[in-house]
Amino acid sequence: MSEGGKAPPEESGNAALLRLASLAPVADGAGPRPFRLPVDEVRRTARDSCGIAGTIASGAVRPGDSVCILPAGDSARVKAVIARGQERAVAEAGEAVTLLLEGGVDCGRADVLAAASDPPEMADQFEATIVWMAEEALHVGRGYTLELATQTVRASVRRPKYRIDPDTKEHLAAKTLRLDDMGVAEIQTDRPLVFEPFARDHTLGSFVLIDPETKARVAAGMLNFGLRRSRNLRWQPTDVTPRDRADLKQQTPCVLWFTGLSGAGKSTIANAVEKKLALLERHTFLLDGDNIRQGLNRDLGFTEADRIENIRRIGEVAKLMADAGLIVLTAFISPFRAERAMVRRLLADHEFVEIFVDTPLEVAESRDAKGLYSKARRGELENFTGIDSPYEAPENAEIVIDTVAMSAEEAADRIVRHILPPE
Ligand code: ADX
Repeated sequence: MSEGGKAPPEESGNAALLRLASLAPVADGAGPRPFRLPVDEVRRTARDSCGIAGTIASGAVRPGDSVCILPAGDSARVKAVIARGQERAVAEAGEAVTLLLEGGVDCGRADVLAAASDPPEMADQFEATIVWMAEEALHVGRGYTLELATQTVRASVRRPKYRIDPDTKEHLAAKTLRLDDMGVAEIQTDRPLVFEPFARDHTLGSFVLIDPETKARVAAGMLNFGLRRSRNLRWQPTDVTPRDRADLKQQTPCVLWFTGLSGAGKSTIANAVEKKLALLERHTFLLDGDNIRQGLNRDLGFTEADRIENIRRIGEVAKLMADAGLIVLTAFISPFRAERAMVRRLLADHEFVEIFVDTPLEVAESRDAKGLYSKARRGELENFTGIDSPYEAPENAEIVIDTVAMSAEEAADRIVRHILPPE
């Protein structure tokens, strides 16, 4: 992996991309390709003009051409084309250029300049062919960083449709992708990408996935096509804002995110906190794992992929409730750092309060209020957290509760003081 994970996709996982390319159908048609320029840098130049620098991915550009700037969709006319310090009549695919555009245009790094008459597609859901390059298998549903040309977004991969047998090319059932596996899966991104199917354009059609924690490059892939599902969706603004709803309740909303082993005491402490807040006339809601798993999430079990989806949904629900003006309490094991970090990112600064209910496994197991630890030890319950499924303790929780040293009441008082400091 290169420093900072910023190398363009075509320089990374070369072998993986070559394998992918060998599977890709021949590029559509033999005719000239339309102009595409992923923007690397925007430099302010003299006379109020700005220079847009990048390497032409396809087609050619000439002074006077009409281009559009994506994703915004504004159009502009090319005033000058500069390559290697010289003004040029034309520049072509593969050349590093700086373009000067007429008029005041709004263009930034990671935008894509394209022929106005034939712009590329945009989508936030795709079918992709992926080669997995990391020892650690794909975590279905987890957020990865996706880099495509100069664009960087957050993306998650759904359960693979199939894995491709390297010898026979047969399609095999797969729950995930492991080192050197090649498979086909749907990908979802948090923002629309300007892209081309790989069969048409290798630059705007290939991507890499990066683990946001380790910064390691974990996969290379090609976009087969965009899915139309979300094309006609727009964020609908509301006149009553989250702020208005919070003001009506005369409180500052937040999400108190309790995490810890099963039997650690999350539900007990969260319940005590909610009671104290109710007495203080605060508007709250407690989302508890055991309850939510009997309704909204009753389709989910305890595999890693299901737990990731469990926390994704709870994160979204908690955000909606915080936007409704509530103080939200959530009591879920939420065993993985990556998903807790994902929920933190969903919320505004200071809105997410991570509370680590720190109870050692031996203590939780000795309490065994629901008898689940003994079931798990007898082998009657699979994927039990702490036994045969991991728990990743928080490293920077806002509050750590040592339940061996502190009662649930004391813990609840401490948490209430944290969010409602005495005046
Ligand atoms: S999480 O890992 O996805 O966050 P969640 O908090 O919703 O888990 O559910 C945990 C609760 O489900 C536990 O308190 C326990 O009562 C029950 N449970 C049943 N099977 C398991 C299991 N294999 N691992 C952990 N908890 C389980």
